[in-house]
Amino acid sequence: MPVVAMKEMLDRALAERYGVAAFNIINDLSIEAVLAAAVQERAPVILQTSVKTVRQYGRPRLFGIFEALVEDVDVPVTLHLDHCPDRTVISDCLAGGWNSVLFDAHELDVAENRRQTTEVVAEARRTGAHVEGEIEGIQGVEDDIGSDDASTVQSLETAVEFITTTGVDCFAPAIGNAHGQYKQAPILNAQRVTDLVEATGIPMALHGGTGLSDEQFTDLIARGCAKVNISTALKETFMKSGLQFLRSSAENDKWDPPSLFRHQRAAVADMAARHIRLFGGSGRAW
Ligand code: 13P
Repeated sequence: MPVVAMKEMLDRALAERYGVAAFNIINDLSIEAVLAAAVQERAPVILQTSVKTVRQYGRPRLFGIFEALVEDVDVPVTLHLDHCPDRTVISDCLAGGWNSVLFDAHELDVAENRRQTTEVVAEARRTGAHVEGEIEGIQGVEDDIGSDDASTVQSLETAVEFITTTGVDCFAPAIGNAHGQYKQAPILNAQRVTDLVEATGIPMALHGGTGLSDEQFTDLIARGCAKVNISTALKETFMKSGLQFLRSSAENDKWDPPSLFRHQRAAVADMAARHIRLFGGSGRAW
């Protein structure tokens, strides 16, 4: 199996300053499409699951689907749990084969977040897994998690202290980014990424990827955002390609499910390949 540790994937990307695309997959078809794009581009890729998707399938069944679909893939893949404030789900996914987890305890005060994240890191190490940490909410609700309120940004010193004392492998800073489509072009604090990477040496995770400009991606990746999250673009591509296909099915009164699936798979794979290329991930498989 081509499944590799999250830390290995991100440390390589940070050293060579490219971004690994991390797609929030929603079902088997979207997993297949993202994997097909990664194989086509010879790129490492991260498949991430929201807590909602884990609950929808049940953890063992979702892992079974991942295992079956990744079996013949010959590029590095890693399975990550996105924003999860629930320690029970964290433990369940770590025990069940996930390669890394984002313990999202930003609603706790920083001291309690630090204490619990340290425990999650110790737990992850027991299964060879890795941890993304977060002390500031990323604006926007995604799969029932989060808030539309702007988050409180912690000082650089607080963030650096959190990273070094907990031992997290990757960190999700709030830099003016937000989940979902941006209502206006975001003004990002890119310098914060540079400062955090210089102070800690660990890769940053760029959340809220959908809607950022090519220049913003390129700049943030050069500064050390080695993990670049894309969720809304995948969902919209999946739904809109389906809608387009179903409209023509209705017009022609022709109803063939496999043709619909092929159409959606191709659209999602195309979207994924475009992001992989833009982030500099093509040809980086090892
Ligand atoms: P988008 O929904 O804006 O692509 O953000 C994805 C993300 O950051 C997942 O955690």
